[in-house]
Amino acid sequence: MEFPVNKRAKVMHFLYLNFLKPILFLFDPEDIHDLFTGVGSFLGRYALTKNITAWFFSYQNPGLEQEILGIKFKNPIGLAAGFDKNGLMTDVLPAVGFGFAEIGSVTGKPCTGNTKPRLWRLPNSKSLIVYYGLKNDGAEKISQRLSGKNFNIPIGISLAKTNDEKTVTTEAGIADYLFAYEKMREEELGDYYTINISCPNAFGGQPFNDPARLELLLKKFAETKFTKPIFLKMPPDLTETEVDQIISLARTYKISGFICTNLTKDRGNEVLKNKIKDILPTDKGGFSGKVVADLANNQIKYIYQKTKSEFVIIGCGGVFNAEDAYQKIRLGASLIQMITGMIFEGPQVVSEINQGLAFLIQKDGFKNISEAVGVDNK
Ligand SMILES: Cc1cc2nc3c(=O)[nH]c(=O)nc-3n(C[C@H](O)[C@H](O)[C@H](O)COP(=O)(O)O)c2cc1C
Repeated sequence: MEFPVNKRAKVMHFLYLNFLKPILFLFDPEDIHDLFTGVGSFLGRYALTKNITAWFFSYQNPGLEQEILGIKFKNPIGLAAGFDKNGLMTDVLPAVGFGFAEIGSVTGKPCTGNTKPRLWRLPNSKSLIVYYGLKNDGAEKISQRLSGKNFNIPIGISLAKTNDEKTVTTEAGIADYLFAYEKMREEELGDYYTINISCPNAFGGQPFNDPARLELLLKKFAETKFTKPIFLKMPPDLTETEVDQIISLARTYKISGFICTNLTKDRGNEVLKNKIKDILPTDKGGFSGKVVADLANNQIKYIYQKTKSEFVIIGCGGVFNAEDAYQKIRLGASLIQMITGMIFEGPQVVSEINQGLAFLIQKDGFKNISEAVGVDNK
């Protein structure tokens, strides 16, 4: 569907698809990711460059504003964890039009990640294969970097355990999550926290998908008497029984919501096979974008149906346009996160999605986006 979007966004979309993307896609995806992080960090450093960026990208509409868990969101579109791993871009992200952003995943210790290459594009499948393995500067350095900053949008901090053999035991893994969390708390950083239990690329797998281990982890978080909302970042490859067990633990330990979902790594999944339209360059890593979209939607639908408004759901996976975002919202997501859509469609897509959402809610007779949450899933 074509949406009424402003001329600026239209021109930038045309330029990105026809000129910039064909050049960017000639180069190694991780190099381009690093380049964008560098450019973003530079643009965020000065008032002038920030204002120019905002002139190109920003869009506001009161119908998109929500207050959720005491946090004010100017629009529901957020940057998912994994793009700004080290908190280098927080100054520019509001100017790009994001309503919130999640940094990290941040681990207890610095992590160099897995061996390169570790990021691949699947252009026909509109997906990426990600095998970074939680590369990041570590909680100490990132908390120092962000200390005392005034963020213009809500910031989430994604926490994970350091990707090495030292954190493989349950106790060491939990201590590592907690260390990262405490470092961030010491600097009073973050409007909410996410416990990432779903990185498909870490040493020792995803041990905290197991309910017994997850309970130990959540118990430790509960002992910190946290006051800011905590989300769980869900793997898309869980059975309904496994999701039920996580919901039950989330209830017990006062988790505020779920991010549905992370990358999928279940290559045997029939749903996945039908989505992959490229020859796979590797047997490692997890898939983002359109490959994971249906799995994410199914999980949003399932959790919302089971829990209604008891938890806040952040929908994530394969959002490329306003219809994709609206579908997740109508299934039960209050907020949306994205990365891959922005890489394939260009940074103006954030503003385009927000403009499209404003159009869609008006068309459906809603005054505010929150009224659309879950309407297809009653
Ligand atoms: C390059 C890249 C790095 C990622 N790193 C992380 C990460 O560190 N932590 C995390 O929770 N999710 C990570 N993800 C997963 C995303 O947050 C998101 O769940 C997934 O990509 C689906 O969204 P998308 O289709 O909009 O990209 C990463 C994704 C990409 C593409």
